[in-house]
Amino acid sequence: MGARKTVGHRCSMVAIAALLIAGAAVAAPLPPALQQAVSRGAYIFNDDSFGSHVKPVADAASAFATLGGAPHGGPRFMTCAVCHIHGGLVRGRLPDGRRFASLRNAAAVFPRYNVKSHRVMTLEAQIRHCVRDGIVGRPPAYGSASMVDLVSYLKSIAAGQRIAIGGPTH
Ligand code: HEC
Repeated sequence: MGARKTVGHRCSMVAIAALLIAGAAVAAPLPPALQQAVSRGAYIFNDDSFGSHVKPVADAASAFATLGGAPHGGPRFMTCAVCHIHGGLVRGRLPDGRRFASLRNAAAVFPRYNVKSHRVMTLEAQIRHCVRDGIVGRPPAYGSASMVDLVSYLKSIAAGQRIAIGGPTH
């Protein structure tokens, strides 16, 4: 009896392993609610100014056109997308032209240690920092709907990136 039980147990382990491998090979479609969070996150990333009244530059529309082009002439006020161009998929560009890393693998390397602030920064803390200092708006609260949506969006663009806590962004 005991031996048979062990065999049964092993079989189910093999079945579970097979399922896991199959699951990893073919990414299952996201549940609708999660897909909606990702889409809302992309919308917030491109269009939300978090109450800021800071214009990207004097002439936002033409500046945004220079920054890689946007439909509808670009945002009136700062958004994530003003600096993290093309949804964060390519290297960022500050309004003054300086370039920096893309957000492609950001969700895979946070949390990180921030030397300047002497603290471990989560992805959420970084988002709040960018809203406060980059957009000059009201940062979304931890656990708020906007934060959940933005994290979902950033995780979605990092799909398949190597998890490397504290690692560099590229
Ligand atoms: C004024 C330009 C600007 C805006 C607007 C901005 N960011 Fe950033 N962001 C940066 C810069 C520059 C860095 C990299 C250096 C740093 O840590 O400050 C960065 C870093 C990040 C990182 C970490 C990736 C890394 O390489 O360190 C994430 C995640 C991020 N931003 C998300 C956002 C989100 C989400 C928004 C909108 C809510 C946003 N940012 C708005 C300029 C901006």
